[in-house]
Amino acid sequence: MASIPFIDLQAQRRRLGEPLNRAIQAAVEGGQWVMGPQVRELEEKLATFAGVKHCVSCANGTDALMLVLRAWNVGPGDAVFVPAFTFAASGEVAALVGASPVFVDVLEDTFNMDPASLQEAINMTRRAGKLRPKVVMPVDLFGQPADYFAIQAVTEREGLKMLCDTAQGFGATLDGRRTGSIGDAASTSFFPAKPLGCYGDGGAIFTNDENLDELLRSIRIHGQGRDKYENVRIGVNSRLDTIQAAILLEKLAIFPDEIEKREAVAQRYNRAFAKSNKIRVPRIIKGAQSTWAQYTIQVANRDEVQETLRAKGIPTAIYYSIPLSQQKGYQSFPSAPTPVSQRLSKTVISLPMHPYLEDGVIEKITDALLEAVK
Ligand SMILES: Cc1ncc(COP(=O)(O)O)c(C=O)c1O
Repeated sequence: MASIPFIDLQAQRRRLGEPLNRAIQAAVEGGQWVMGPQVRELEEKLATFAGVKHCVSCANGTDALMLVLRAWNVGPGDAVFVPAFTFAASGEVAALVGASPVFVDVLEDTFNMDPASLQEAINMTRRAGKLRPKVVMPVDLFGQPADYFAIQAVTEREGLKMLCDTAQGFGATLDGRRTGSIGDAASTSFFPAKPLGCYGDGGAIFTNDENLDELLRSIRIHGQGRDKYENVRIGVNSRLDTIQAAILLEKLAIFPDEIEKREAVAQRYNRAFAKSNKIRVPRIIKGAQSTWAQYTIQVANRDEVQETLRAKGIPTAIYYSIPLSQQKGYQSFPSAPTPVSQRLSKTVISLPMHPYLEDGVIEKITDALLEAVK
């Protein structure tokens, strides 16, 4: 059997076929390689898809977070609450704008921000009196929406803004609402491996706030005013390439179908593991649908399982083997207790996941895993 890809982007490429080639060619021949018409078209289609008034594209998902923090004037002395179990971008952007990340533990069964730990981190920060609580940044880890309504109850009570990082969960829904439309603002990444990815780097921000939309459009192009040679504030260069927008327009058209296919793969995994008491499958919260950016399980003998699967040609990945709060660059920032993040970093393992995973391959993976955990 051919080797099993962890994510099969070439299968998607084959499906997209000639129309994708034509879209790329049109973007090249159109000659408007920066901020071409495809960029605006994509922003409009993404806003409609997410059910939100404004979408502002940018260069990558990290910038998307950072641009919002800058627009909100988050800086020195401010606390940004981020999960301890997440990708580096969460803590990075807080530090980059001069603020401080404050780490919050996650829930063991969903991997997402724990509202009780968030409250604890806010209380701890207020008691210490050194930082002003400003923003809460939940992450849709592995594709599942964070428990936004529980988190929002905390942010509203505490007078904080909520910036939802849906880089892994864009396209998912909570109570029928797409991520992107929840929170004061939301961000996503179009990194190729994301459920909706391009062929390079890209990102976007979503908001219903007209003022924020205007600010973001200015900051992403050198703080431009009427044009880029009128600079009304300090900005950055963070634009989405026209060619990437053209690719994303083609991919967005098949995205709803791909989300359904991902769900079907996840259900097959769930069914296969239902009877094993050695494999803990992810819990999806009530009212949520995941995009299954990853299918991540917990097993006690994780490293051994990974090795056994590798020997059988089955790739796996560990997201994340060190909680962000314990990474060298981040150890000095404040943190609520994070026992769950620490446990998860030793037990999680992600299996191959993409819309084009065939039944026979899924069976090979599940058989090998059930054998490995015996
Ligand atoms: C949760 C999360 N946030 C932010 C990012 C950053 O996105 P990018 O790589 O496009 O900067 C990523 C992944 O790459 C991510 O997984």
